Amino acid sequence: MILRAEGLRKFYGKFCALDGVSLGVGAGEFVSIIGPNGAGKSTLINILTGVLRPSAGRVSFRGRDVGGIGPARLARLGMARSFQLVQIFPELTVLDTLQAAVVARLGRGTRLFASLARDRDVHAEALEVAELFGLGARRGVPARQLPQGDKKLLDVAAAFALRPHIILLDEPTSGVSTSDKTAIMEILVAASRRIGLQAIIQVEHDMDIVFAYSDRIIALHQGKVLADAPPAAIQADQRLIDTVIGRRVPSR
Ligand SMILES: Nc1ncnc2c1ncn2[C@@H]1O[C@H](COP(=O)(O)OP(=O)(O)OP(=O)(O)O)[C@@H](O)[C@H]1O
Ligand SMILES: [Mg+2]
Repeated sequence: MILRAEGLRKFYGKFCALDGVSLGVGAGEFVSIIGPNGAGKSTLINILTGVLRPSAGRVSFRGRDVGGIGPARLARLGMARSFQLVQIFPELTVLDTLQAAVVARLGRGTRLFASLARDRDVHAEALEVAELFGLGARRGVPARQLPQGDKKLLDVAAAFALRPHIILLDEPTSGVSTSDKTAIMEILVAASRRIGLQAIIQVEHDMDIVFAYSDRIIALHQGKVLADAPPAAIQADQRLIDTVIGRRVPSR
């Protein structure tokens, strides 16, 4: 197992958002987390990536207890998640965003960024990732000016530029059209192979995407794991699907 969580609980005040969640993710797995609004999916991702500390339970990554070590150190150990860089630097161009990710991976301070951005290796690698994600032609465009689908891609590309062992994506295709969703997933899978990514965990609401790309699906409901099974087993259980998908409003 690359990533393992045992008995995770998370309280927000008296409200229990996660109530004893355990899971494991092994090498080569693409795992989707599904569940209705408020099920605890983002809370789980935030705990797994060290952004939130669990009220109880343990998280281990590559055999090492990582509870509460924080997202920056987890990233250095090889766990990346999408969307942070784009959210932080909307004025940066596509290439600058990817260069920032490459520089972050190399463990150098942002103070040196201005000079390092000119460094040929950083530039070449950022450009390679841009091409890999089909963003080469837009490398000079500021992130905030990109269409939604390309913003999502840049998000994911920046996480890939960290060359992680594992990547966690909270709704990588939300807010894009169905055809764009499939395009994003195809690029993601191809890029994963290219960089030798060991596992992907995603939160996703589009069940066509979930069923098409997952090796395993973890269904959360009211902070508990209702099911943890391959797509075929989930697909065959209509009651589970009704419970887990329910009627939902799109999240931001
Ligand atoms: N910081 C917080 N303080 C208090 N309650 C919170 C906080 N963050 C989340 N919650 C609550 O915890 C529950 C789980 O939230 P979470 O964001 O993990 O759900 P989610 O499954 O990601 O939902 P969505 O599908 O809407 O993204 C919800 O009821 C939410 O209102
Ligand atoms: Mg969420």
